[in-house]
Amino acid sequence: MKKLLIRKSSPLKGIIEVSGSKNSALPIMAASLLLNDKCLLKNIPNLADVNSMINLLESLGAKINKKKSYITINCSNLKNHKAEYNLVKKMRASILVLGPLLSRNQNAIVSLPGGCAIGTRPINYHLYGLKKLGAKISIKDGYVIAKAPNGLRGNTIELPRVSVGATENLLLASILAKGKTVIKNAAKEPEVQDLCNFLNMMGANIKGIGKKNIIIKGVKKLKSVKYSIIPDRIEAGTFIVGALITKGKLRINNIIIEHLQTPLKVLKKMGAKIKIQKNYIIVDGKNSKLVSSKIKTKPYPGFPTDLQAQFMCLFSLIKGKSYIEESVFENRFMHVSELNRLGAKIFVKNQNCKIEGVEKLIGAQIMASDLRASVSLVLAGLVANGETQIDRIYHLDRGYEKIENKLNPCGANIKRID
Ligand code: EPZ
Repeated sequence: MKKLLIRKSSPLKGIIEVSGSKNSALPIMAASLLLNDKCLLKNIPNLADVNSMINLLESLGAKINKKKSYITINCSNLKNHKAEYNLVKKMRASILVLGPLLSRNQNAIVSLPGGCAIGTRPINYHLYGLKKLGAKISIKDGYVIAKAPNGLRGNTIELPRVSVGATENLLLASILAKGKTVIKNAAKEPEVQDLCNFLNMMGANIKGIGKKNIIIKGVKKLKSVKYSIIPDRIEAGTFIVGALITKGKLRINNIIIEHLQTPLKVLKKMGAKIKIQKNYIIVDGKNSKLVSSKIKTKPYPGFPTDLQAQFMCLFSLIKGKSYIEESVFENRFMHVSELNRLGAKIFVKNQNCKIEGVEKLIGAQIMASDLRASVSLVLAGLVANGETQIDRIYHLDRGYEKIENKLNPCGANIKRID
């Protein structure tokens, strides 16, 4: 089992390039199933989850060529419409092939994704919406069996709760459906907007991108495109916290400032010195006198749940009391017990956390539990006295391209050991 060995690092200094967004790449790769041709995707990050999606698409018959951050996907000759459990279990976002497969073949069999550390992650809204589009859905032996012998028909779907995945699956199912679909209470995340922009470039007819209600007019055919995906706002936010917690100074390149409005507003209020430029920012952690704060995670444009663990790590070293309310996932505090092993003082009550700032953290052996929790442990290891060993770092590699290769040149002391 791979581990990371982190020694207390010097303040992070230098320039870091943000990679393409994982949560944009995955739905856009799934969307290529709709195209009877090839498409070229650029700025695709080199991550375990991207490789899992490649394996899944290839198992369906896609021809894929990956060169650095370019991926060509050709789904002209799909050979089956069954997404097997052994592939789907590796990455929950595999469920995003359900909508396009059903739309393309009027038939799709996709393994139930199962839950993960942060929650049961049900797909009831995905299935509810597909039924509204005319699909016959049954569950058998842990698989979703979806049929639409006469093709999918547009309809109005009101999502009971904002759901990124459900919005994306229903977008992918409605693009080629007959007639008009309205997705009400749709997710507005930048990654959902990126998917819509990609689909429209292929010839889809989507209006209301980034709004509460998305309107899709079914089209007959899509065309081959070259598309560059957006940078990863969560990776960017992680490095911002890294500069602040180590009291360093980082220039972070490839940022769409608008995607980080809320976290930047919180940090400004906390006294963080951040210079905002057109597509990069300079974080001056050394001269930031940070005060405690409170955050509540919400769907975009609210505070992103994917930055909650990283901010909790930052709060743990800020004098006074900070508060976090996690309103998106039911079990996203797995990092608390690990941070407390390093000497943090964090108290959990249901969906709320109180963090009492401490002077310092002390290195120890800890364990990653989910993707964003693991990166918060890396941030803690950078500033904890002594040595921190993080086990189960496969969670980390799902969403961060060998993070040590980006942080060590800036002064971090991270070793990957088997
Ligand atoms: C996406 O997950 C992201 N994953 C998550 O990022 C992110 O945390 C999440 O959106 C929220 O922004 C990808 O894009 C691949 P949801 P998703 O559907 O689509 C409940 C990361 O670290 N729900 O918006 O699964 C659900 O349980 C990952 O990169 C239902 O109840 O999230 C959750 O409580 C973690 N039924 C809430 O809604 C459903 O059918 C929001 O989930 C669907 C969701």
